[in-house]
Amino acid sequence: MLRIPFFRPSIGPEEIDEVVATLKSGWLTTGPKTKQFEREFAEYLRKKHAVAVNSCTAALHLALEAIGLKAGQGVIVPTMTFAATAEVVRYLGGRPILVDCHEHDFNLDVADAERKIQSALADEQPVVAIMPVHYGGQVGDALGVQALAKRFDLKIIEDAAHCCPAYYRSSSLPQEERAGERRPDQPPAPGPQGSAFHVPPASPHRLGRGEGQGEVVQFSTLNSQLSTASDWLPVGSSADISCFSFYANKCITTGEGGMACTDNDEFADRMRIMSLHGISRDAWKRYTGEGSWYYEIIAPGYKYNFTDIASAIGIHQLRKADLFHQRRSAIAAQYRDLLAGVEEVTLLTSNPDRIHSWHLFVIRLRLEKLQIDRAQVISELQKAGIGTSVHWLPLHMHPYYRQTFGYEPHDLPVAARLYPEIVTLPLYPDMSEADVKYVCDTLKQIIVQHLRPTGAALSPVR
Ligand SMILES: Cc1ncc(COP(=O)(O)O)c(C=O)c1O
Repeated sequence: MLRIPFFRPSIGPEEIDEVVATLKSGWLTTGPKTKQFEREFAEYLRKKHAVAVNSCTAALHLALEAIGLKAGQGVIVPTMTFAATAEVVRYLGGRPILVDCHEHDFNLDVADAERKIQSALADEQPVVAIMPVHYGGQVGDALGVQALAKRFDLKIIEDAAHCCPAYYRSSSLPQEERAGERRPDQPPAPGPQGSAFHVPPASPHRLGRGEGQGEVVQFSTLNSQLSTASDWLPVGSSADISCFSFYANKCITTGEGGMACTDNDEFADRMRIMSLHGISRDAWKRYTGEGSWYYEIIAPGYKYNFTDIASAIGIHQLRKADLFHQRRSAIAAQYRDLLAGVEEVTLLTSNPDRIHSWHLFVIRLRLEKLQIDRAQVISELQKAGIGTSVHWLPLHMHPYYRQTFGYEPHDLPVAARLYPEIVTLPLYPDMSEADVKYVCDTLKQIIVQHLRPTGAALSPVR
């Protein structure tokens, strides 16, 4: 039996050597490697500032602090997100106003956000910010969020934990103008033109594992190509601050870690200061030749700084980000192909105006066609050696939010309806074509064995 964990990070000799060099350098905590990682990340995201911290949660907290969120103020948060997005609002005494999601991509429903804002304002509750989350790595309605934020004077603090890299189109071209157009992350059509964006199929070799595998690590191919394609924007382009995660299972990882990116000098300064005890600028330099022993505390800050050991990993993960993305895209394409004809499974919409990071591959089970529920499907997959996850129990259905704010499941009906159906399948660059096929074949077998008697026949295992 194959064993396919839900996730396995791709750590190569480059990361290992850099960590060893960092350990030998004698500088372990925030220092020159962190500055390098910040610089390179800012360049990758086309942002003026990138502030490295020890988690995306910390980045989100610092972002809300930097925009001056006060106790009692409202912040729009999608219910379909991880704990972190809303809990940071609570850290500052704010009120998360939970919003429903779209059925096709699980991203924040801007129309529902508007309804919730109108109703908060009618109750004289201020609303000061919106926190879009790009579910699984597909950018949501960034232009819609931007328009809403402008209308209601909201700051946009983006939870881009899943999005390294992800892009969206800045203009909505009419459908006919796009006919036949190839998205930059898709393989070129056969023929004499263009091979710039060739996406290799998922292959059995392991990325960055062991020696002598001859893997060529390219620095940011997609990123550098898109910087000249004017209407494709990296995630974060329309936000005041966007926050990324480098947690172990994210698109690029440093074990734990996060980054807050912004073009705003004041927000960047404030986040930097608050990330290290509220100590005046460049605190880390006080141990270097350039620094001074003297420092001042200007606010009661936090201990969120990032280490050079973690940055040593991050620098090389970032260089591989586009390569990882190619592999993730190829694996997602294989999943979509193998599951396309399975009636009992619904796939999320992959929007042609987006370049999806493919952090997560989520399916919906059509439970009305099965005799078992989602938990049993997960347990059968586990028996076959396949790790899965669920993203997520919507926030408004968790005890804390129900008890504190009185939410009922039906208050955000789309998310509540989707929740029992969703399963996240394994997706990471080191998966081979055979791994993906095994997951799909196993899932199909489980479905066939547990079809409702009246259910339509499942398409045969390919
Ligand atoms: C949408 C989302 N936001 C924030 C986070 C928090 O990231 P971190 O673990 O780096 O704090 C996660 C983590 O999984 C996430 O999925």
